Amino acid sequence: MTGMNLTHVFGIDMGTGSVKIYNRNTDTIAKEMNMIAVRNHENVFAFGNDAYEMYEKTPENIEVITPMSEGRIHDVQMMEAVLHLVMRKNSRFVGYAPVLFFSVPLDMTVLERRAYVSITKKGRFRRSRILFVEKPFADALAIGIPVRSAQGTMIVNIGAECTEISLLAEGRIILNRTIDIGGDKLNAAIISGVRRKSGLTVSKRTAHRLMLTLANLGRDKGEGCKAAGIDTDTGLPRDGIISSYTVSSSVREVIEEIAFEIRRVLDRLPPQIQAALQKEEIWLTGGGARVPGICDHLIKLLGYPVEASEYYEYTTIEGLKQVADHTELRKYAFAPLRGNK
Ligand SMILES: Nc1ncnc2c1ncn2[C@@H]1O[C@H](COP(=O)(O)OP(=O)(O)OP(=O)(O)O)[C@@H](O)[C@H]1O
Ligand SMILES: [Mg+2]
Repeated sequence: MTGMNLTHVFGIDMGTGSVKIYNRNTDTIAKEMNMIAVRNHENVFAFGNDAYEMYEKTPENIEVITPMSEGRIHDVQMMEAVLHLVMRKNSRFVGYAPVLFFSVPLDMTVLERRAYVSITKKGRFRRSRILFVEKPFADALAIGIPVRSAQGTMIVNIGAECTEISLLAEGRIILNRTIDIGGDKLNAAIISGVRRKSGLTVSKRTAHRLMLTLANLGRDKGEGCKAAGIDTDTGLPRDGIISSYTVSSSVREVIEEIAFEIRRVLDRLPPQIQAALQKEEIWLTGGGARVPGICDHLIKLLGYPVEASEYYEYTTIEGLKQVADHTELRKYAFAPLRGNK
């Protein structure tokens, strides 16, 4: 093959927390925080991971903006800026007419479809070809679910601001529900848990670090970790020792809220789908699937087999990569302003 392979092909998963980019020419997958720091409301000061570094510690004239909200484009202008900046950083050359595969939510409106097109088709991407792949299908392909023969497979994508529950049967998504609980809620729960237990207010970044080192939904680690924060009584900065118990029980509360929502979906399924699901499992994807002990905890709460995708938050972009790489999977991609049904 000659001509075809010269075309630059990308997969782009614009998540609320981060943007993941697959570059077929370099065969790489990269991740950048989906953030932009703007000075005096007009000048871009930093973007991506550099903007995250400034998060919660910027001077007043610099604002850190997250352009997506609950998995959807929220600030069109800022999303356009982040998209082009992270793509510039990712690839110096994109050729004449690059092909871009975007992962998208299931129930998009025409306006939302247009937003993807309008923010993309600018500058060096003005002649690009844009294709959409719905997120649950991308996840299913990455996990290796036999999409066409599945009789009842559930995918639960726990992202930064939301959790998407999808049920796959006979090549279709027969049910899809998004709830506004995700990784950010885990951080928030840790912040309030620590405040209650230790009278200390920690930052979101500190809460995230505590989760990474101490959280476990199985057996409690019985450990502690030093953290800096602001004393709730005196308002002065001080250190405190935070226990793994405090962190894990805060995380558990949020996971149990997610479990409650999954349970509501499960209880309404017809018996033959419930039976199929017992064999085909509930698959966890997204960064939230990394919470240690989450699968066993959900198995206990739900009474169904639960397994985590080995790609975690990279599951969706891995699925886009497969669609971009294999022509027989192109049927999962569709043009933005044409129907897909
Ligand atoms: N080791 C970990 N343990 C628990 N949570 C984690 C871990 N690593 C990442 N996360 C959480 O995963 C979330 C990011 O997941 P992901 O990258 O799937 O979200 P996203 O695709 O950017 O957002 P969305 O799908 O909601 O639009 C973060 O909020 C983070 O708190
Ligand atoms: Mg996501």
